[in-house]
Amino acid sequence: THQWRGIIEEYRDRLPVSATTPVVTLREGGTPLVPAAVLSERTGCEVHLKVEGANPTGSFKDRGMTMAITKAKEEGAKAVICASTGNTSASAAAYAVRAGMVCAVLVPQGKIALGKMGQALVYGSKILQVDGNFDDCLNLARGLSENYPVALVNSVNPFRIEGQKTASFEIVDALGDAPDIHVLPVGNAGNITAYWKGYKEYAADSVSTRAPRMWGFQASGSAPIVRGEIVKDPSTIATAIRIGNPASWQHALAARDESGGFIDEVTDREILRAYKLLASQEGVFVEPASAASVAGLLKAAEQGKVDTGQRIVCTVTGNGLKDPDWAVAGAPQPVTVPVDAAAAAERLGLA
Ligand code: F0G
Repeated sequence: THQWRGIIEEYRDRLPVSATTPVVTLREGGTPLVPAAVLSERTGCEVHLKVEGANPTGSFKDRGMTMAITKAKEEGAKAVICASTGNTSASAAAYAVRAGMVCAVLVPQGKIALGKMGQALVYGSKILQVDGNFDDCLNLARGLSENYPVALVNSVNPFRIEGQKTASFEIVDALGDAPDIHVLPVGNAGNITAYWKGYKEYAADSVSTRAPRMWGFQASGSAPIVRGEIVKDPSTIATAIRIGNPASWQHALAARDESGGFIDEVTDREILRAYKLLASQEGVFVEPASAASVAGLLKAAEQGKVDTGQRIVCTVTGNGLKDPDWAVAGAPQPVTVPVDAAAAAERLGLA
């Protein structure tokens, strides 16, 4: 029988684990790489979606969290802490359960999606809503981890990056080589750092013949890397990437420059347009932040920055069910019918 074993077992020789490391896993990774017909048509390229919402807690964070929690357990930690816009905390909470650890979570008050709050609660984490933004939460979490017996599992923890780099391995393994371009949403900038590390490692070992250009997209109201300065009061409907001072800022610049790529911004309107296109035309329901990659690709194509015939992978980072408000908002209310086939058929335009 073949079941995907999770990223640590599948890529053990490329990760910092030993035979005695106590692996904490929910069999994350092994996510679908889905050909995107409509996006391919629009760009004249071969576009694929790496659907990270298919992970156990619904986002790419699980790749990093299996590593971070595994190493915390190996080092004897009894408790972990993270700051989060919602997905890191959902993931940390779940993996802490698997490891038998306490999980503390700091989230910006009123700025995380309901599904993510539900996850942190049902997994039994200790949640504090902070009267501040994500950047404030991360400062607080760092301070607590330095002064109290609790391990920090944000992406400043290098084991998170190690785990997340496996998405690049999966893409090369599936396509037979690296794509020409890889497109990602950028928030705290850990993921673009991780993908670039993974692509570089495979290229260095000649598993692939090259590494892709890395294209990152921030939300316009939260685009410190694009602006070149900290954004004090970040805003965007894509709450997952509502971040004004990314921890991996310098690594994101390195990924951009070493790969010959760029980091640009997309407006909330562009994000929502891509969000609806992904669901209604490609059948892939993602959360708004995830649509920033696709919004960015479409923007670049409109600007004439996308030469035809290239192979492009867009990571869509989180599941649409985490934040369904944006699917319901503005959509027409479904009509109510009696229990009557004729009436239903008429309403459906079948009669
Ligand atoms: N997409 C989603 C759905 C996210 O949750 C995040 C980050 C990103 C993209 C950006 O990734 O930070 O590595 O550049 N979410 C973090 C969290 C901040 O707390 O869940 P990044």
